Order: sequence, then C-alpha cells, then structure tokens
Amino acid sequence: MEAFVADLLSRMTREEKLGQLQQVQGTNGHVADHLADAVRRGAVGSIINEVDPATIRSLQWIARHESRLGIPLLIGRDVIHGFHTVFPIPLGQAATWNPQAVEQAARLAAEEATAVGINWTFAPMLDVGRDARWGRVAEGYGEDPYLIGEMGAAAVRGFQTDDPTRPDALAACAKHFMGYGASEAGKDYNSTNIPPHELRNVHLPPFRAAVDAGVLTVMTSFSDVDGIPATANATLLRDILRDDLGFDGLVVSDWDAVPQLTTHGLTADDREAALAAAQAGVDMEMASRTYAHHLPALLAEGLVDDATIDAMVRHILRVKVRLGLFDRPLVDPAAVPPSGAPATLAAARDVARDSLVLLRNAHALLPLDLTSLRSVALVGALADDPWEQLGTWIFDGRTDHAVTVREALAARLGDAVTLRYERGHTHPRARDREGHAAAVAAAAAADVAVLVLGEDAILSGEAHCRADVSLPGDQRALIADVVATGTPVVVVIMAGRALALEGALDGVAAVLYAWHPGVMGGAAIVDVLCGDASPSGRLPVSLPRVTGQVPLYYAHKRTGKPATPETIVHESTITGRVPQLSVGNTSFHLDVHPTPLFPFGYGLSYTRFAYEQLRVSHHTLRRGESLTVAVDLLNTGDRAGTEVVQLYLNDPVASLTRPVRELRRFARVALAPGARQTVTFTLTESDLAFSNRHHRRTAEAGVFHLWVGGDATAELHASFTLVD
Ligand code: GLC
Repeated sequence: MEAFVADLLSRMTREEKLGQLQQVQGTNGHVADHLADAVRRGAVGSIINEVDPATIRSLQWIARHESRLGIPLLIGRDVIHGFHTVFPIPLGQAATWNPQAVEQAARLAAEEATAVGINWTFAPMLDVGRDARWGRVAEGYGEDPYLIGEMGAAAVRGFQTDDPTRPDALAACAKHFMGYGASEAGKDYNSTNIPPHELRNVHLPPFRAAVDAGVLTVMTSFSDVDGIPATANATLLRDILRDDLGFDGLVVSDWDAVPQLTTHGLTADDREAALAAAQAGVDMEMASRTYAHHLPALLAEGLVDDATIDAMVRHILRVKVRLGLFDRPLVDPAAVPPSGAPATLAAARDVARDSLVLLRNAHALLPLDLTSLRSVALVGALADDPWEQLGTWIFDGRTDHAVTVREALAARLGDAVTLRYERGHTHPRARDREGHAAAVAAAAAADVAVLVLGEDAILSGEAHCRADVSLPGDQRALIADVVATGTPVVVVIMAGRALALEGALDGVAAVLYAWHPGVMGGAAIVDVLCGDASPSGRLPVSLPRVTGQVPLYYAHKRTGKPATPETIVHESTITGRVPQLSVGNTSFHLDVHPTPLFPFGYGLSYTRFAYEQLRVSHHTLRRGESLTVAVDLLNTGDRAGTEVVQLYLNDPVASLTRPVRELRRFARVALAPGARQTVTFTLTESDLAFSNRHHRRTAEAGVFHLWVGGDATAELHASFTLVD
C-alpha cells in the first residue's frame, strides 16, 4: 500500500494534491455541472451529504474514469445510529453494556449506507459526556472513558469490519478530537478548559481504543481547548494523536471549523486559518473552502511546504486504499435493497430491548400481569409518535416500519384488556394543560397507568442544550395528578440525556428509562412491560437529582475533604442560628444530597442477583504478571435474567490524584433462576496505568483496591499490591 500511495503521490500535480484535501457538499441528488467539473479536474477529495445512489455512482464514475489519475471519492454522511433503520441513540446503545449489540447496529447501518454508495460515516462520537445539559450527550456513550472506549471500538469494528476493502465496509470516524464533552456549562461549542492530565486521563482513552481498533479517520472538535481550538492544535493533532497514539489515517475538520478559527479569535482571516489548520495537522477541510482558496499562495510563498501537503495527501490516499475504493464496484442504484429488512428491524428491536434500564419496580408491578389486568390507561405524546422515538441525528431515518408504544401495547393486549390512550399534553414541552384532565380521568378509571414522558428529539443533539435538565413542560404535574388517583403508575422516560428527576417520580411504582429507542422502540418497551423480555440495561451516565449537581459522575476525585454520611447536612435540618463551622465542612451541597438519584451502572432486572466469594489470584502482583479476579454470581429470583457484572479499580496513592473508582471490566451474564456462575476477569499492568506527571502511561507500584458488583456503588472489595 505504501508503495502504491508513494507512486500515486509522485505522479500528482500540486493542484491534484490540493484537490484531495477538499470535502465539498453534495448537490442534493443530482450532479451539478460545477461539481462534475471539479471532480473531473481532481479538485475534490470527498463529498459530504449526497445520498442518492445514481448521483453517487455518477460522481464516482467521473472520479475513477474521467479524471487524470482516477482517484476515487470518499462519500461521507452522518450515519450515527442507523441509516434508514434507526437504532437507539448511542447513549441508549451504551446502556446495553453490550459491545456486540453496538457492533451489530453499526454493521447493519453500514450495510444500508454502503448500498447507496456512502463509504464514510462520522461516527462513533467518543466525547466523554459528564454534563447532561450538553445536547450531544445523546450522541455519545456516556460518562465513563472505559465504557466509551469499549463501545467506540465495537462501533469501529461494526462499521469497518476486519476487512475494510469489503464493498459493505464503511470508514469510521473517531470524533471530536478532543475534549468536546467538557464544553463549559454544557453549552455546545463553548470553551473547554481541560488541564493536560485530565485531557490525557479522561478524554483520550476512548480515542486510544478506537485507534487500536483500526479507526480510519478522526475529526477535530469545534471547541477551543485551553486557548488553542482543536482544529489548530498541534499538541493534540501531532504530539498526541500521531506520536502517542500512532494514528496514521486522515484527520478531517468539523464543518467550517477551519474558518471558525477566525471567529474564535485565533487567526485574523481565512488565509491565516488555513495556514494554522494545515500546520497543526488537519488533512481535509469539511465544507468550507479556505484550503482551496489559500493553500496555493501559501505554498508559493513558502509558508507551507510541499512535504506538509504530501503528508496530508498521503493520509487521505491511505484511507482510500484501505477502503479498497480504487477497486470497489460502483453502486448499482437498481440493486439498492428496500429498507426495513425484517432481520434489521429485529436487530433494532433487540438492541432497543437491551438498552432499557429498569430503575424502580415497587411491588413487582412489572411485568404487567396480563391475566388479571382489565384496563390500561396509556398517556403521553411520546407513546404515539414514530418520529420522536427515533431521537436526534437521523438524517435518513425512516418511520414507515416504526412501532410506537401505543401500537405495540394495543397489539400485545388484544381485546381482553381495555386500552385507553390519552395524549395528556400537546407535546412534552407544553404548559397548556391540553389533555391533562382527560389523561388523569383515564388513569383514575384504569387498573394501571403507563405514562410515556420525557423529551422530544429536538431537545437533544448538536446545539440543543438545556440549562435545566428536569422534565420539560408540565410533565411533573401530570405524573403527580395521575399518582393522586391511586392507580398504580408506570413511567417510561424517553430522553436524549440524563434527566434530573428528584421529586418527579414520587409515588410512581415503576420507572423504565428508554432513552430514544429507535424505530422499534415501542415494541421493545412493550416486550419488557409485558414480560416477554427481562430488562438488562444499565445506566451509562449517573442520573442527577437536580441540575445543579451537573457535571456529575462517579469517577470523581476524593478531594481533601470528601463528604461522608456523618458530615452531610441538609439545609432543612438546620434550625435557628448555628455556628459557622458547625455545618458540613466537607464536599457537598446543603440543598441536595451529593449522590446521584441513580448511580452509574445501575439497573434492575425482573429477578435478583447476589455476589459471593470475591477472590484474586495474587495479593502481590509483579510487573508483567496478570491478575485474575473471580466472583460467584447467583440468580436468587424466580425468573431468568441478565446481570451486568462490573469491576471497578482504585489507585489510592499515586503521583497524580486518581478517581475514587474507575470501571475496568464488565460482562453481561445470563442466568436461569437459581443458577450460579463464576465470573472471572483478567487484569494486566496496563489496566493499572495512567498518564503520569510526565505524560507517560505507567502503573505505579503500591496498593490497588477493586470492587465487583452491579453498579458503581459495588461493595464487594478486594485489594492487591503491585510490586516492581
Ligand atoms: C456537525 C457535527 C459533526 C458532524 C459534521 C457533519 O456540525 O459537529 O459531528 O459529523 O458536522 O455533519
């Protein structure tokens, strides 16, 4: 491959080299003359947002057979959680804690997208999402770098397969490099002030996992990283991405992120922006045209040299060769399979089912007892909207095969049970009380009330941030009024983020968190509500009590004055005048308990699990050795179920303060009632390593603690000592 790339590069004119650096927009389903001419001249390396197969075929034909060197085009599109068949949003896919499910969803999306000629997607998004106010938490895999890395690597494998030259392989894109999730105040595009150790120990690991999984491309972030926007940040793009991680694919800017360097105030104009981005290591410019307009002059003036351009082009040609594009057959528009293949829809239902997190199930209200049930009241706009349940980032999503909760429940209950549906509000954000009374009346008359509430899709995704992440509109009052009828209540939450629900669920018997579950979401939710499937989802994000706790995450530092049950004081318990120093003096808020409403990793099943006999193979671990951790898991309930066994690690004393816990392993384990299984994990030195004061990944000798259990508060503990 290197010889092929070197040979091709040696035959390219300067104009043809600069052409490869340009990603231009499609022209909506036809081949505009200007675009055809540019492709014929070799002035275009990639096209974004063209999805019409005939148009893509024509453009590829021109590139391959009418340009001088026949270099094929990268055809890019945001295929984030499905192409025509929409799977749960990535945050929901993370809630499956099932890398195989994420890989399968990506594979099926790749099959649908490559069928029309797309060969590059801008996913997986690997940004660490610890601030629920940020709209793009919907598009990521949650708050934990290890879980994000496992899911991101699975998505890369699914999109690209282990042979990216396959005609149905889609180049993946690890984005947004780097630290975009730390946008201040959860406001999109805002500054990210990330200290160097936090950058390398929190935000970088998911990208290391994606590069190790062979991701072909990386996208720069819009954000300003401690004063140098990522798109002009050589420390990120050269020192860390190329030198530390060994990435040798292509780096593409985000949309217009190059000219935005001037908006940021880093450069004075497009010419300086193009120079800054090229010098920092951005190979391809998405949508904007500063490279096309200014690199020729910058080259002529010697401000950019040919070696720099050659390196940029080499990265791009490498990706095209690795994708087999020089030999990949052109797509046949007549052979594009219809969307909604039964197997794909079935997979979308399976992934959605695994994504559902049962947060509460008082009196075992769920699964609904269909033998005794006579009437059900179903409430909520989201229960009857095939579009909203798809969630954000679905440019090409189709609803013609969508199944809503209302449709699935009606079909599942049949005629034996009366199902009355009331919308309950105009939409989740409404405050007009339209339909409120009718919904409460329906609930009062029913044996059980199922409320499907939360956020409509527009409230999450890019640039859709919320300063208050509680339930929108009047939904909290709707829940309270329905609870007041005395009818048992099930609340199903559809949302693109962790919502702050303290107080909103008072009196609710059962709570199922469904994220935005995709085209088969309604069917999956009813499968679980009616007991045809047991819930196995676990939280990929800590659920806050109130917005003011955010950013909120389990892997926090201990601090010098950690809150303890003894020192936590709620303001409501302070009576009269008390001495200044008599309250608290540790790290907590007076008005809200410092813990999440539900912790990272949490989720119930329809059965119960117990953990026994945690044991480690070594209490003293020498460098280079591996450590085996074993625990016995029991299903102590009367139904089959799947537990997600989680292993957390802590390095209590190190040259940098370390998080109180960090997820290091997890496994989904299905057990029949009464069954017992020994679950083992193997840890190596690299699992103990972190980026130290000198930015070197190393494991430091000393004691390590580990916990194994069903969420981040696991109590079963063991320890061992790493010795030199
Ligand atoms: C958007 C997003 C990026 C996306 C790109 C192309 O602004 O930031 O994630 O892939 O532009 O749509």
